[in-house]
Amino acid sequence: MEQFDVLVIGSGGAGQRAALYAAHQEGLRVALITKIFPSRSATAMAQGGINGALKNVAKEDTVEDHIFDTIKGSDYLADQDAVEFFISRCPECIRELDYFGVPFSRTEEGKIAQRNFGGQAYPRTCYSADKTGHVILHTLYEQCLKENVHFLQDWYLLDIVKADDGSVGGVVAWNMKEGRVEQIAATAVVIATGGAGRMYWTRTSNPYLSTGDGMAASFRAGCALKDPEMVQFHPTGLGKSGILMSEAVRGEGGYLLNNKGERFMKDYAPSKMELAPRDVVAKAIETEIAEGRGFGTGLDAYVVADVRHLPKEVILEKLHGIRDLAITFEHADPLKQPIPIRPTCHYSMGGIDVTDYKTCGTVIPGLFAAGEAACVSVHGANRLGGNSLADAVVFGKIAGEGAVDYVQNHEAKDAKDALAKAAANWEARFTEVTNRKSGRPIAEIRDEMALSMWNNVGIFREEKKMEVALETLNRLIEEYKTCYVGDSNRTFNMAFVNYLEVGSLLTVAKAVALGAIRRKESRGSHLREDYTKRDDANFLNHTLVTLKEDGEYEVGQSKVVITRYEPKERTY
Ligand code: FUM
Repeated sequence: MEQFDVLVIGSGGAGQRAALYAAHQEGLRVALITKIFPSRSATAMAQGGINGALKNVAKEDTVEDHIFDTIKGSDYLADQDAVEFFISRCPECIRELDYFGVPFSRTEEGKIAQRNFGGQAYPRTCYSADKTGHVILHTLYEQCLKENVHFLQDWYLLDIVKADDGSVGGVVAWNMKEGRVEQIAATAVVIATGGAGRMYWTRTSNPYLSTGDGMAASFRAGCALKDPEMVQFHPTGLGKSGILMSEAVRGEGGYLLNNKGERFMKDYAPSKMELAPRDVVAKAIETEIAEGRGFGTGLDAYVVADVRHLPKEVILEKLHGIRDLAITFEHADPLKQPIPIRPTCHYSMGGIDVTDYKTCGTVIPGLFAAGEAACVSVHGANRLGGNSLADAVVFGKIAGEGAVDYVQNHEAKDAKDALAKAAANWEARFTEVTNRKSGRPIAEIRDEMALSMWNNVGIFREEKKMEVALETLNRLIEEYKTCYVGDSNRTFNMAFVNYLEVGSLLTVAKAVALGAIRRKESRGSHLREDYTKRDDANFLNHTLVTLKEDGEYEVGQSKVVITRYEPKERTY
C-alpha cells in the first residue's frame, strides 16, 4: 500500500497549487491523484483571466474595491471575512504565477496586462490573451514535475477513508490502467476535484470530467454541501454547444444584441451595460429570448455577441481562441459575423463546506478542500468572472499550507483495516455492477437527469418544476442501483468510470434541487419565478445539505458572516 504525507485529489489549478506548496517543503511525500492527464483539467478552459488589484492599468484600483465588488457581486451571500482574506492574497499569488513562468500578456511598460470584466470598478483581470487558465495550468504542471510531485494519473477517487478516531486515513481509488482498486494511506488529503456542471450534460461550458466526484465523496464521508443551489450560468455560451465564449469578448468592448439589433443591456444595467455581473447578464439574455427578441426557438434560441466594431488586431491578438471556437462550432467568423450565444452552466459556487477559510479545513480532521469543489464561501450567489482562477490559486495554496501544517502537527493514523475494507467493498461492487445483464443503461439515466435539471432547476426556477426534478432524481437514484453498465473488462473500462461519474452527479444534483427548493427567494444566480425578490429577513443564510446515517438528505442552514458591508439592493 502506498503511503503519503499529503495526498491531493484533482489536477486543476487548485490541486496543483496545493501539491506544489506541499512539495516545496523539505522531506514531505506528496502525491496527486487525477482521473485525466493533468494539463487537461477544467482550469485549462478558464479563458478570460484572473483578478487581482495589481493597479497596472487602473492606478486608482485597490484591494478594498476588489473586496467590495466581490461582496456586492455575490448578492451579499459571501462570507465577508473570507472574502477579505481571499482578495488581499490575490496580488501576491498572481505575482507568484508570473515568477513561476506564466506567460501573461503585457502592458506597454512590460507589466502584467489587465482588462475589464463584469461587475468590477476597474480593469483588474490579468490575462494571457484568451487562454489564461490554459497557461496557468501548464506552468503549474511544469513546476509540480520539477518539485517531484508524484502523479497518480488515470486514477479515480472512489471514497475517502477515515481512521477509527474520525480523522482522515487515506482514500481508495480506481486505477483505470490496471483495472483495480488501490488503497492509499495519507495523513492529509486535499480535495480539489472541480465542479459538477455536467449535471446539465451538454448545456455547460465544463469539460466532460466535471462530475462532482470530490463533492460526492466528501458528502458521503460526512461533509456538508454548502449552497449547492448556487449554480452559475455564464451568459455567453456558444449557441449550439454551450462552449464558453469568454467574458473577455465583452471586456474588450463586444456588444450583445437582440433580434432588433438593440444593445438590450441598456434596459437591465444602464451604467455597466455588457459588463454587469454574470447573473444580471444571463437573466437579461433569457428574458430577451422569452419575450421574443431572440433568434431561433426553444432550446436553439439565442442572441448575438458582436465584436465587428473592434480593431481587427484586438480580435486577432487578444481573442484568437474565441475566434477559433466561433468558427469551428458556430461557423461564424467574429471578424465578419455576430456570434450566436446563450447562457450555459459554468460554475458550482456551492460545494464542500470549508469550515476554516484560513486553512481550507473541513469538519473531518485532515481533510481539506479547495477550488470549485469547495465552498469557502467567497462567491456567494454569484461569482465575478476572473475570481475563479484567483480562487483556485489562492485557496489551492492555502489548502497546501493547511495540509502541511496538519501533517507537521499530527501523527499518521493507522487506517489499514478501514482501507482494506473499503477496497474489498469496491472490488465486490465492480464485479457485481459490471456483470449485470440488464437494467436501465447508465447513459439514459444521465440524459434524463440532465434534461430534468436543465428544464426544472435551470436558470429560471419555480417550486412545482423543482419538485418534479426532485421526484425524477429520486427515481433515477433508485434505477441507478440496478443500472446496466455493460462492460466487465478491467483495463480502461470507461463504462465503469461513467457509471461512477453519473453516481457522483446524481448525488450532487439532488443537493442542488433540495437547496433550490429551500431557498424561497431570488438571489444572484438563483432566480425564482415564484419568489422574485431577495429576502434578507429569511434567507440571508447558507444552505447546508448533509447525508444522514440512513442515507436521507438533511437540509439545514448556517449564518452568513457580515463584517463591513451591510446588504443593499444591487444596481449596475
Ligand atoms: O469568461 C471567462 O473567461 C471565464 C472566466 C471565469 O469564469 O472566471
